[in-house]
Amino acid sequence: MIIKKLAFSGVQPTGNLHLGNYLGALKNFVSLQNEMDCIYCVVDLHAITVFQKPSELTNNVLETTASFLATGLKPEKSIIFNQSSVAGHTELAWILNCISRIGWLNRMTQFKDKAGSDKEKASVGLYIYPNLMAADILLYKATHVPVGADQKQHLELSRDIAQKFNKDFNCENFFPLPEPLIPKKVSRIMSLRDGAKKMSKSEESDYSRINLKDSADEIKKKIQKAKSDSEPIPDDSKILKQKPEALNLLTIYSEITKKSLAQITSEMAGKKYSYLKENLAEVLIEEITPVGKEIQKLLKDKSHLKNILENGTEKANIIAEENLKIIREKVGLI
Ligand code: TRP
Repeated sequence: MIIKKLAFSGVQPTGNLHLGNYLGALKNFVSLQNEMDCIYCVVDLHAITVFQKPSELTNNVLETTASFLATGLKPEKSIIFNQSSVAGHTELAWILNCISRIGWLNRMTQFKDKAGSDKEKASVGLYIYPNLMAADILLYKATHVPVGADQKQHLELSRDIAQKFNKDFNCENFFPLPEPLIPKKVSRIMSLRDGAKKMSKSEESDYSRINLKDSADEIKKKIQKAKSDSEPIPDDSKILKQKPEALNLLTIYSEITKKSLAQITSEMAGKKYSYLKENLAEVLIEEITPVGKEIQKLLKDKSHLKNILENGTEKANIIAEENLKIIREKVGLI
C-alpha cells in the first residue's frame, strides 16, 4: 500500500516568535511545502492549557498566522488554520484520552518542566496536552511531523497511541505512525545570554533572543551584547563544545549563511568575537528584518488574516470529517 506523504505541525500562539522558532521550525515548514502536502496549525487549544488573557490570545493567533505567511508559507500550497475552529481535534482527543495510558503521560518530561514544583495546581489540560497533540496529527493521518527536538517525546507518544488504536480496533496500518522531522543542528538555538538554555520567549531578558519583529538596531545591539568569550575563536570543535555561547553564535551564523558549521568555524578561527558578531548582525538583519516588516504589514489587515484562517479551516475540516467518520465507526460510535 502506498501511503501519501502528509506533514502536519502546530505552533502555539503565545506571542513573539523568535529566531529559535524561525530556524528550528518555520524555515523547515516552508521548504517542506515543496516536498509534500502540508498542514500548519495555530494550536490555540494547546495555548490555553496555561491561562491566556483572551484579548492577547486572539491577537497572538493572528500574529502567529502573520508569521507563518511572512516566512513564506503559502495558503495556496499549504492548509493554514487554527486548531479550535476544527471541532474534530477535540473529539478525537477525547477518544485518544481513552486510548492513552496514565503511565505514558507520567513519563512526559515537558509536563514536569511546565507544571513546576506544584503539580497539583497544574491544569488537567496541561497533563493531557500530549494526547491532544496526538489527535492533531492523527486526525489528518499525517505521516511526517516537523518539530523541534523538545517535542520528540510527545511524538513518540503519538506513535504509541496510534499503534494501540490500530491494535485495539483491529485495524493494522489505519493510523500511520508519524515520523518526526527534526532539523539536526538547529533544533537547539540557545539563549544569547546563557548557552545552556534554549532561546525562549519566557526568558526574562529580551537580550536573550532575537525576535522576528526586532528592528535592525535591536538586532545589532543584542548580538553585540551576546555572551561570548575573551579568547579568539577556536578552530577545534572539541574546545568549541565547551564554549556553548560561542558555538551558538557560530551555529546561527552557519544556518543563516547556509554554510556548514565546519566551514564557518575554519573561516572564523583565530578571529575575535567582535568580528564574528559584526558579520552575524549583518546577515541576521538582512534575513530577519524583512520578515518582521511583513508581519507588521500583515497585522494591519486583520480581516485578511481571518479570511486565510477561515479558508484553511474549511479545507482542514473536510479531511478531518472524512477521517472522523471512519474513526467513529471503528470505535463503534453511532
Ligand atoms: N506541542 C507543540 C509545541 O509546543 C505544538 C503542537 C501542538 C504540535 N500540536 C502539534 C506540533 C502537532 C506538531 C504536531 O511546540
